[in-house]
Amino acid sequence: MRIKIKNARVSPNSEARDVYVNNGLIEGFNLDGTFDLEIDASNFLLSPALIDPHAHLREPGQEVKEDLQSGLSAAVAGGFGTVVCMPNTKPVIDDPEILRSLIAKAEKLGLARLLPSAALTRGQEGKLLADAAALKAAGAVMLTDDGRTNEDAGVLRRGLEYAHALGLVVSVHAEDASLRGDGVMNEGEVSERLGLPGNPAAAEAARIARDLEICAVTGARLHIQHLSTARGLQLVRDAKTRGVNVTCEVGPHHLTLTDSKLETFDALYKVAPPLRLQSDCDALLAGLVDGTVDCIGTDHAPHTKAEKEQDLLEAPFGIANIELAFPLLYTHFVATGKLSLEKLLELMTTGGAKVLGIGEPKLEAGMPADLVLLDLNTKKIVDPASFKTKANFGSPWAGQELTGWAAKTIVRGQVVFDASSS
Ligand code: DOR
Ligand code: ZN
Repeated sequence: MRIKIKNARVSPNSEARDVYVNNGLIEGFNLDGTFDLEIDASNFLLSPALIDPHAHLREPGQEVKEDLQSGLSAAVAGGFGTVVCMPNTKPVIDDPEILRSLIAKAEKLGLARLLPSAALTRGQEGKLLADAAALKAAGAVMLTDDGRTNEDAGVLRRGLEYAHALGLVVSVHAEDASLRGDGVMNEGEVSERLGLPGNPAAAEAARIARDLEICAVTGARLHIQHLSTARGLQLVRDAKTRGVNVTCEVGPHHLTLTDSKLETFDALYKVAPPLRLQSDCDALLAGLVDGTVDCIGTDHAPHTKAEKEQDLLEAPFGIANIELAFPLLYTHFVATGKLSLEKLLELMTTGGAKVLGIGEPKLEAGMPADLVLLDLNTKKIVDPASFKTKANFGSPWAGQELTGWAAKTIVRGQVVFDASSS
């Protein structure tokens, strides 16, 4: 299959070129010859497809919330060509056989590329290390007990050493469980007024401080997931200055929503770590701008309608957002002049690739044809009913007018999402 993408621009002011895609690869620019499909990119921006280092796709075992088909369809609709799925499934992904079957299934689907992470500890119980070498051999790109916290510092240290020897990154959900307690939202003025149990910023900061010390002593690669606080970010910034081998990510919800949303008592806004204060959002945005934050991780975390309709104490944590990540960040920060388009694309493409230690995407001949055409002009209202994720019953951003929607997503040289026909 040979595709001609005509009049493609990589930035709004760059020169338009015709990009040729052949046999799954970028063949070259401004070439001649016949093609099977022509795509007019005149109204769009061409970028390498987005990379998400953090999504919950719920297979195996929780297909009622999401499965590979729905989750990877949602991913390509969001412009993602590669997704790292989390292992907090049922059973937990701590077994090479599960990895192999997920990878085989995702390949058959032919949507976004699936790069699974695997559990750091068996059953994500935080006690015995999983067989990292076997998991790596079966295709794991990252080890993490995400969804759970790593309470035993000694286990995390040994896990980091083991992963380091194998060249694998370990990512952590950095919250101190005892400080977090049974908090369902940020601890502060709003939680006190609503009478809801709070989860303090200190739960994140204390755990990050501990993990940075462990990272420094092992020299291993540590990735801190879904930063939510100004203090946590500052700890990472200081550690990076000292040369600690750490990377971090921020999610769209922690940049665009605050704890005041919990005044609705709607569990759509219940997420771990919780939504914080505007000052935290501002600090995280500054972290994107100054390069402290390495990548955007969506932490797409779908649950069922029935689960999310429970009250705030009972409902599970998690926000489904993979279809909105780019439009949200583009509309809130790039269109408002707070963040450059180039930086946002870097955070959503090469940023994740560097964290994972996989090849960095480039628009060059010979590179895999994983591409997205982004429509930076058309305004569209967020309508959860149109989502591909199974969590299409509501969204924290329902009704918002956004720009930056994916028009077409190409993975392995095949069009896997086309907004005009979906
Ligand atoms: O809000 C969250 N949801 N945070 C997590 O760490 C886990 C995730 C999930 O699996 O639903
Ligand atoms: Zn997490």
